[in-house]
Amino acid sequence: MDLRGRLVNSLWAFRLLLAVPAAIMLGNFLMHGRGWGQLIDQSGEWAIRLLILTLAITPLRLLMKQLGFGPHWPMWLFKRRRSLGLAAFLYASLHASAYLIRQANLNVVLFDLRFAEYLTGWIAFLGMLLLAAASNDDAVHRLGLWWKMLQRLAYVAMIAAAVHWYVIRQDHAAFWLHILPLAVLEAYRVWYNFARPAGLKH
Ligand code: HEM
Repeated sequence: MDLRGRLVNSLWAFRLLLAVPAAIMLGNFLMHGRGWGQLIDQSGEWAIRLLILTLAITPLRLLMKQLGFGPHWPMWLFKRRRSLGLAAFLYASLHASAYLIRQANLNVVLFDLRFAEYLTGWIAFLGMLLLAAASNDDAVHRLGLWWKMLQRLAYVAMIAAAVHWYVIRQDHAAFWLHILPLAVLEAYRVWYNFARPAGLKH
């Protein structure tokens, strides 16, 4: 296999790629004096972007199957799902940590929780935390059927994060640009699983 092929197939190269936005935002914060606000915004945006990509993998694989792609790319996506989900959680952790350090006061943090935009942020974070904790092979085996149920938390986290973003921002252009493709893919998944004509079933 040539170098390009090796890089495309390497899980470590993929993980390194996922770390690039964090390196850039932390570099800007530490070396170029960009404030907490920018770090919070950028890490939040990457957290939701990666969560969306994680959720998009299943409908994308169904679409590829229906379009007659071979097994390679659906499997390529499947093998990267866990790394994407974990990266989403790590960006969310950076986001939450930057927020907590900026507030620097537990009373203010608790006060903020009364507002929908903060409560939904914490609900999304908690969901992602539980998913990350149950993402290793050991947990998959120990939890058995419960593990599948637990995966539904990803949708709870997604909806909570989307509400958090929608309410916290006045300008919704970026919001729709991120959310609409996932909504279309999810609608396709529901159609594929429940309403697909018999002729298209294989
Ligand atoms: C842990 C609890 C959380 C808190 C306290 C929190 C707090 C915040 C704050 C203070 C902002 C910036 C608002 C501003 O600039 O005016 C923000 C923005 C944002 N947060 Fe969170 N957040 C939390 C969790 C999350 C999670 C889990 C996600 C995604 C999975 C997320 C995604 C976002 C997004 C996308 C933005 C807007 C960024 C932008 O428009 O540039 N947040 N959040």
